[in-house]
Amino acid sequence: MKFFIDTANLDQIREAQAMGILDGVTTNPSLMAKEGITGATNILKHYVDICTIVEGDVSAEVISTDFDGMVREGEALAALHPQIVVKLPMIADGIKACKYFSDKGIKTNVTLVFSAGQALLAAKAGATYMSPFIGRLDDISTDGLALIADIRLIYDNYGFETQILAASVRHTMHIMDCAKIGADVMTGPLSAIKGLLKHPLTDIGLAQFLEDYKKGN
Ligand code: E4P
Repeated sequence: MKFFIDTANLDQIREAQAMGILDGVTTNPSLMAKEGITGATNILKHYVDICTIVEGDVSAEVISTDFDGMVREGEALAALHPQIVVKLPMIADGIKACKYFSDKGIKTNVTLVFSAGQALLAAKAGATYMSPFIGRLDDISTDGLALIADIRLIYDNYGFETQILAASVRHTMHIMDCAKIGADVMTGPLSAIKGLLKHPLTDIGLAQFLEDYKKGN
C-alpha cells in the first residue's frame, strides 16, 4: 500500500519524507490556499518545491473545467517536473482529458469520485489513480469504506490497472480499513499516518527496557 500525504505544507511533507515511508503527495486548490500559496506563479513554484522534497508522484490539480483548458493546464503542469501527476475533476470533460493524457503517457489522478460508476469511467479512461473521497462520504452518513470495497471488486473483476487512491482519509482507522479492503494508495494528513505508530504497550515496554538497562550498568 502506498502512503501519500494530503497537504501543501512543506514542513509536514519533509517530516513524512524523513520517516522513510512516504510514496507521494496529493494537493488541491483548498490545501494550497490553506498554506497561503496563491497566484499561478507561486502555485507552480510550490509544486516544484514539493517535488524536490519527495521521490514519488505529486498530484497537481487543474482548475479549468473545459477540455481545452484542462489539456492546456495539464500539459503545463506535467512539464514542470517528471513527478507531476495531472489531477482532473470527475466530470465529462475531465474524463475526456484523462483519456487524452493517458494516451500520451502522462500520469493522471481523477479526483472528486463519490460513486462506483464514476470509478468505472475513470478506469475506462485509463486513469493512473482514481480518488474516492471517503471522509466526505462519511460526513453525509454514507459509508465511504463500502465504496472502496465496491470499487476494489469492480476493478478486480476486469483487471483494471487504475490505482484506487483512498482520499479524504481523516484518521488512522481509515488507513487500516483501506489496507484491509485493498486500496492501492491512501492519502491523508500527517496526524493519521503518525497515529499508526501509537500503542501504549510499546511505550510501557520501551520504558521498562531502558529502566532495566540502567539497573545493569
Ligand atoms: C484528495 O486528493 C483530496 O485532496 C483530499 O483527500 C480531500 O480531503 P478532505 O475531504 O479532507 O478535504
